[in-house]
Amino acid sequence: MLSKAQAWLSVLLLHFMEPCIFAKGEFNVLFIIADDLRPTLGCYSDPVVKSPNIDQLASRSTVFYNAYAQQAVCGPSRTSFLTSRRPDTTKLYDFNSYWRVSAGNYTTLPQYFKANGYTTLSVGKVFHPGIASNHTDDYPYSWSVPPYHPPSFSYEKRKVCKNKDGTLHSNLLCPVNVSEMPLRTLPDLENAEEAIRLLKQMKESPFFLAVGFYKPHIPFRIPQEYLKLYPIENMTLAPDPDVPKKLPDVAYNPWTDIREREDVKALNLSFPYGPIPKDFQLRIRQHYFASVSYMDAQVGRVLQALDDLDLSKKTIVAFTSDHGWSLGEHGEWAKYSNFDVATRVPLIVYKPGVTSPLPRPGEKTFSYVDVFENTQEQFGKGYKVHSMVELVDVFPTLASMAGLPLLHHCPVPSFKVQLCTEGFSLARILGRQEWTIKHQSYAYSQYPRPSDTIQQNSDLPNLADIRVMGYSLRSNDYRYTLWVSFDPVHFLANLTDIHAGELYILSEDPGQDNNIFDEFTRALLKLGAQPQWTESLKQHLMYFTASSKTKWTL
Ligand SMILES: *[C@@H]1O[C@H](CO)[C@@H](O)[C@H](O)[C@H]1NC(C)=O
Ligand SMILES: *[C@@H]1O[C@H](CO)[C@@H](O)[C@H](O)[C@H]1NC(C)=O
Ligand SMILES: *[C@@H]1O[C@H](CO)[C@@H](O)[C@H](O)[C@H]1NC(C)=O
Ligand SMILES: *[C@@H]1O[C@H](CO)[C@@H](O)[C@H](O)[C@H]1NC(C)=O
Ligand SMILES: *[C@@H]1O[C@H](CO)[C@@H](O)[C@H](O)[C@H]1NC(C)=O
Ligand SMILES: *[C@@H]1O[C@H](CO)[C@@H](O)[C@H](O)[C@H]1NC(C)=O
Repeated sequence: MLSKAQAWLSVLLLHFMEPCIFAKGEFNVLFIIADDLRPTLGCYSDPVVKSPNIDQLASRSTVFYNAYAQQAVCGPSRTSFLTSRRPDTTKLYDFNSYWRVSAGNYTTLPQYFKANGYTTLSVGKVFHPGIASNHTDDYPYSWSVPPYHPPSFSYEKRKVCKNKDGTLHSNLLCPVNVSEMPLRTLPDLENAEEAIRLLKQMKESPFFLAVGFYKPHIPFRIPQEYLKLYPIENMTLAPDPDVPKKLPDVAYNPWTDIREREDVKALNLSFPYGPIPKDFQLRIRQHYFASVSYMDAQVGRVLQALDDLDLSKKTIVAFTSDHGWSLGEHGEWAKYSNFDVATRVPLIVYKPGVTSPLPRPGEKTFSYVDVFENTQEQFGKGYKVHSMVELVDVFPTLASMAGLPLLHHCPVPSFKVQLCTEGFSLARILGRQEWTIKHQSYAYSQYPRPSDTIQQNSDLPNLADIRVMGYSLRSNDYRYTLWVSFDPVHFLANLTDIHAGELYILSEDPGQDNNIFDEFTRALLKLGAQPQWTESLKQHLMYFTASSKTKWTL
């Protein structure tokens, strides 16, 4: 047993040293964060979703194809990537604590830029609101001025969605006529306007502007016209809409947040599996995709402003999301799991002169693309990187790209170290067509559960209720998850007390539906691995990598 759950994390990681080659303050940073966005984007080869503005950004950027969140729920993921520490170090697995009080006084990404002379600004949902950021989005530590919150967000969960009979409800599916909305606007429209207003003021000092869009997070309260992009007759179900037979209960998330919406309640779904009627599944997918296109348009407006203000030649742009969202895969919806659909995120990084040539005078880098126009420009896919990267890499990457002093890798434990990173800077690989590292790379995610059986609070247990932690490792070839007992009082994972395991071989099973953990375990026992194999997760991984070839010929 390891004394600290994160001890094993450092073992396989590599520390990249890189020279400081950029002058500090030369580049601004625009950091755009979508909410609950998996890489359903044109630039990630999604065949359905229309995202021309993000695709245009990608065509001038390095696109990380295998980027993963550290925990697939907003608060823990945001606190993790904004501090570059994993959830075991922020001690945040739910929404109910502030890391500076409960874990350590960690310096955040925007705080680091602020300390280095940048004006730092927050628009929309950047930090998770409430206790998780001390009800202030970590102002004044992280931000130069109080963060902006769009006034129309207060209507997000109200009864503003019109049913066919004209009555108003708090629905999951909520396409609206914007001019009939309270305040006649929507949160992401306001976010884009505020971001543009701030950009106009930011001509002198270097700035770090974080813009957190709320979509495609539920409810799908979006301008109704975006649905036209996705005719319902063109929608298809997830390729694997059933709960996999060999999925352990502890791994399943019962998507309780969706069930609470009035339109879903009216379906009288059974707990925990549902299933949701097929026609409603198609509509959820349609509304999610429409929400992505609506958010994409807001990204386009902000990027156009960057260009109009002549800022795109001296501004680094990063686009990502806090985690993904299951769209019916494995019979699951929402986030709250360790599957790729919940943990994989888009990560797109643009730096003028590095990921794309510096624009010639008068030349445009970004211009708003109207998704409703049929004659859409086809964008190139940008530089692709297929290695596994993690959201904890974002902080050191942006700091390095902006020429700020490099961050040291965190010691274990690092509760007393204010500034360090549990990730790695990806700056040195930007602008390279393909990057391979000598060692296999991994991405780690984790998810807590209150019990081995599926309960009402399985999606998002409070800290005190956590009994099991699923540590998950994603390589190019497989996803491997161990569900082990967890003591929430001492923050201790017992890696020898294994409740369940999952192993998916991606070449045969890209959707992660055929869990071969039990077969694999039997094969290991046959190989005589019994005495040692439960020793630690590290041991498991070593056995896996060493024995997998033998296993397939057994
Ligand atoms: C936390 O760090 C900030 C600077 O990063 C400092 O101003 C503050 O006093 C520290 N708080 C504690 C409790 O150490
Ligand atoms: C959190 O906010 C409260 C009230 O604004 C403040 O008194 C307290 O110092 C803040 N906590 C930290 C760690 O800064
Ligand atoms: C949206 O609402 C406004 C105000 O009620 C109305 O004038 C307009 O026709 C509506 N638009 C659509 C497309 O329904
Ligand atoms: C819907 O599907 C039809 C038939 O495949 C296709 O011609 C049409 O372009 C699709 N519509 C959209 C908006 O994708
Ligand atoms: C759900 O249950 C309610 C109350 O039992 C019933 O009135 C309604 O018709 C049911 N709806 C569906 C879709 O079965
Ligand atoms: C860890 O789990 C193993 C197996 O269940 C058990 O024997 C051991 O006592 C546990 N260790 C701690 C510290 O609880």
